[in-house]
Amino acid sequence: MILVLKNLLNADELASIRADLGPQAPWIAGASSAGGQAVTQKNNQQLAQDSALAIRLQQRILQAVQADPLFFSAALPHKIFNPLFNSYSGQANHYGPHIDGAILHSRQTAERVRTDVSCTVFLSEPGDYDGGELTMHDTCSAQSLKLPAGSAVLYPGTSLHEVRPVTRGQRLASFFWIQSMVRSDEQRRLLFDLDMNLLKLRQQHGENAETTALTGTYHNLLRMWADT
Ligand code: NI
Repeated sequence: MILVLKNLLNADELASIRADLGPQAPWIAGASSAGGQAVTQKNNQQLAQDSALAIRLQQRILQAVQADPLFFSAALPHKIFNPLFNSYSGQANHYGPHIDGAILHSRQTAERVRTDVSCTVFLSEPGDYDGGELTMHDTCSAQSLKLPAGSAVLYPGTSLHEVRPVTRGQRLASFFWIQSMVRSDEQRRLLFDLDMNLLKLRQQHGENAETTALTGTYHNLLRMWADT
């Protein structure tokens, strides 16, 4: 499932984050943290993840994303990898097709996180750069996203994906991974659909015997499929 979360950060918050992520920020070569295959594809800059700035901004990103109830419903988070930040511009302007490592070790939390769900939070306005689409490939098709600043996309960690070359301007983003309580994308999708449609049924008809029963079904499926 690919899901867009909208308006997670307002214009003032975005301007402040972008100012913090100016040329003075502790940017390092993105390839320094890529695995064997990915390192051949990765040509961007990344914020030094142990820097005081990164740690401060991580909190803002996590607060913004977790404030959206869709995030919990879609990702059913068990562990969240500390958000990272990247920049694509000039010569360091793309990240070719790759699959993210299945298990990542967070130095900050000293935890291993299985990358069930990937999240990218767009921080630059689409009009401020050319290219830079997040493109997810399937066997015979591809889907490209270039979202407004302050919006995020959740997509399966199993996706072959890339960031297309930025040919003008700068693309700033935050990205991180979620280990879900429900490992299977298919099962998470079923739970998400059930949850969203129950919400609508309640809005239309109020609580009734059927919504109560289906809420029971939701929780019983979650109990069957979830690990905590
Ligand atoms: Ni990636």
